[in-house]
Amino acid sequence: MGTYIKQQAIKKHIYGLDSFEGFDETVNIDIALGGSHYSLKREKGFDDTSYDLVQDKMEYFNLESIVTLIPGFFERTLSEIKDVRFSFVHLDVDLYQSYKACLEFFYPRMSTQGIILIDEYDDPPWPGCNKAVDEFLADKPEKPIQIERKSFIKSYVIKK
Ligand SMILES: C[S@@+](CC[C@H](N)C(=O)[O-])C[C@H]1O[C@@H](n2cnc3c(N)ncnc32)[C@H](O)[C@@H]1O
Repeated sequence: MGTYIKQQAIKKHIYGLDSFEGFDETVNIDIALGGSHYSLKREKGFDDTSYDLVQDKMEYFNLESIVTLIPGFFERTLSEIKDVRFSFVHLDVDLYQSYKACLEFFYPRMSTQGIILIDEYDDPPWPGCNKAVDEFLADKPEKPIQIERKSFIKSYVIKK
């Protein structure tokens, strides 16, 4: 995305947020919700990662002026981008509590016709995603729309 934005001289900035230390204890809500087995569905799941490695890649591809990485848990980091408006948000956060926090934060900051792409909707290990999305959209006009490409099915919401 960063390379495309640069090549096309599109005036957009990309923010990449992740704890870079895996899941916190809120994964236990998802374990209690059930769903299919997944080895990383545990505290510290996805902690085999490196902020420095990802930042080095941004520098290697000369994307430092286009991509800002914000390490830390959303509870603290989302406030750093509270004044930004978004046209596209890719949520790939697995957990009920994380989907809920991100939807509450990003939805009011979306441009009209902006897209929120949801990675784990109808994904067997992560029923908490459906729960968070369905609860959040219950009183809103938007509904998840499915896209299918080969064996992948993803869902997205277009902000009205
Ligand atoms: C399926 S991984 C996706 C990682 C990355 N987007 C990728 O595609 O390689 C889910 C990520 O969500 C992050 N995550 C979930 N809840 C979070 C929270 N509350 N704060 C920060 N990161 C969180 C985890 O650290 C994990 O890296």
